[in-house]
Amino acid sequence: MDTKIIKIDEENIDEALISQAGKIIKNGGLVAFPTETVYGLGGDALNRESSKKIYAAKGRPSDNPLIVHIADIRDMDAIVLKVTENALKLAERFWPGPLTMILKKSDWVPLETTGGLDSVAIRMPVHKTAAAFIKAAGGYVAAPSANISGKPSPTSAKYVIQDMDGRIDMIIDGGDSGIGLESTIVDLTGDIPVLLRPGYITVEQLREVLGNVDVDKTILDGDCKERPKAPGMKYRHYAPKGELTIVEGQALAVVEKINELTHEAERKNKKVCVIATDENADSYEAGVIKSIGSRNDEDIIAHRLYTILRECDDENIDVIYSESFDSAGIGQAIMNRLLKAAGHHMIHI
Ligand code: TXA
Ligand code: MG
Repeated sequence: MDTKIIKIDEENIDEALISQAGKIIKNGGLVAFPTETVYGLGGDALNRESSKKIYAAKGRPSDNPLIVHIADIRDMDAIVLKVTENALKLAERFWPGPLTMILKKSDWVPLETTGGLDSVAIRMPVHKTAAAFIKAAGGYVAAPSANISGKPSPTSAKYVIQDMDGRIDMIIDGGDSGIGLESTIVDLTGDIPVLLRPGYITVEQLREVLGNVDVDKTILDGDCKERPKAPGMKYRHYAPKGELTIVEGQALAVVEKINELTHEAERKNKKVCVIATDENADSYEAGVIKSIGSRNDEDIIAHRLYTILRECDDENIDVIYSESFDSAGIGQAIMNRLLKAAGHHMIHI
């Protein structure tokens, strides 16, 4: 398949191009598009054939449900059984934005889109190109992250092209994703809301609006034997090709340990990379040093994480050692993704 690649500037949207992209979706095709979190791989959420195509293009297991993206809060009504009070409160505070809510679905949404579940995940992105595209596409765009299943989510068009060129109809290049990690997911189908995936909107912020919010136990605990409630969270996701290990402890001890490990790996002729904070970057002695940002600037760390993991693949890195980060606030999302990328392999010193 020939994949058409177009550029759209969020601040000066080309309506003719957006309408072309929308038509592709209405005709059952697939278009990758930018959002504030990561790039999405879009198809018509109400067309079961489109959802099947999404799974095929990603190489994704079909029991892993898709998020339905909307551009108008009122469009939520038609795809859920009931817009609950909690959903309204969250929408008012965080939409449009990086929050996905799970509610009981209406008959309108095919089971192919929800991976066979009777609930549906819904998000209203704040990215202007995403919103214009969703409107042009008819209002309901099913979109997982636009990566081949198992790879880190793409945060720039370059990586969407790497994974999806030849597999889908169109890619909209909208520059870098601002946030860089996937949306926060909260399940509103039970009595108490449950955080299923941490993201830019933190559990503390959700609690400010909802009061009590539980956290799915599998989010930070690698030994947890329970099944995560978001089917996608059970897969070893976000993974680079190289073997990643996180080293946690006092800064000086971490630097010393990583230096020992990188020297050892280089002696074995491995290509090594260190994911370092700005504060420590100068202290590493071996391997490719990638500075992820200042320890105190978690937004930058979130923004850079997937790009660094992808660069490791581009540079054929065999072994990666990463510092550990604070897990409060958005740090919970950063550590959740880093731990998954590492297959929960962590050294404590
Ligand atoms: O930021 C994002 O959410 C990005 C952009 C494109 O919007 N999308 C994204 O989609 O990350 P994806 O498919 O990579 O992740 C969706 C997650 C999966 O873990 C999936 O299992 C979960 O949402 N999910 C979707 N529907 C669900 C449902 N009804 N119940 C439980 N989990 C659900
Ligand atoms: Mg994904």
